[in-house]
Amino acid sequence: MSERRMTAPEFIRMKERGERIVVLTAYDFPSAAIAELAGVDALLVGDSVGMVSLGYKTTLPVTMEMMLHHAGAVARAAKRALVIADMPFMSYQVDDDDAVRNAGRFLQEAGAAAVKLEGAGPTVEIVERIVAAGIPVMAHLGYTPQSVHQLGGPRAQGREEEAARKMLAGAKELQDAGAFALVLEVVPMDLAKEITAELRIPTIGIGAGPHCDGQVLVFHDVLGIYEGYTPRHAKRYAEVGELMRKAIAEYAGDVRESRFPTEEESIR
Ligand code: KIV
Repeated sequence: MSERRMTAPEFIRMKERGERIVVLTAYDFPSAAIAELAGVDALLVGDSVGMVSLGYKTTLPVTMEMMLHHAGAVARAAKRALVIADMPFMSYQVDDDDAVRNAGRFLQEAGAAAVKLEGAGPTVEIVERIVAAGIPVMAHLGYTPQSVHQLGGPRAQGREEEAARKMLAGAKELQDAGAFALVLEVVPMDLAKEITAELRIPTIGIGAGPHCDGQVLVFHDVLGIYEGYTPRHAKRYAEVGELMRKAIAEYAGDVRESRFPTEEESIR
């Protein structure tokens, strides 16, 4: 792992060198600081914050103000990792000028170094405009959570031949529009492999098999904190939620049984 600060162009150089890219979501200062110490290459301030931190059922209620608040906290903790902020629902779909302005706010107000947008089709032109403004863009295809109602839930995309061809074409258009990386979420692994082989920019998989250039997971899934719906691809590396519950129960027991505070923990 290089000690140099990660940048969007460095993502592409890592693909050229055959180095795998590690991305983790982060939503606040302490979790970003821990992920930074663990050496991840990028911290994605995902709009998944709405589900795992704010208790919403989907990412749709997440606003620009919420995202700026969380992105700022993550950016203040980041030293080497590239901070990528997710553009929330309705912050780029309505008006291209607004999209560029909103993308710029993440760099100007929150200190992020890149933004992420979902989809191809009409999003391609928006990506081009944001990139032209000097803002690195990570693209996102496959299952795109902001289209949850249109897609009918968190299910695999690109299984049928036509959908697969369309995804590959969209991936190439996003690359041509200037995206520096592409997230592939819940995509059959053979399709993810083909897209990865066809693109010059790195693919970052989540539920897209082992052939992508890098991986991204949600912080709370990796650590076993989130008790809501957890997809099959979300590998749990620890049971931190259980550890937290035990520690808090012990604290509560100590207070109730007058074991805390003791004179040792008191001021004389
Ligand atoms: O919002 C998010 O966390 C994401 C990742 C799962 C890619 O978009």
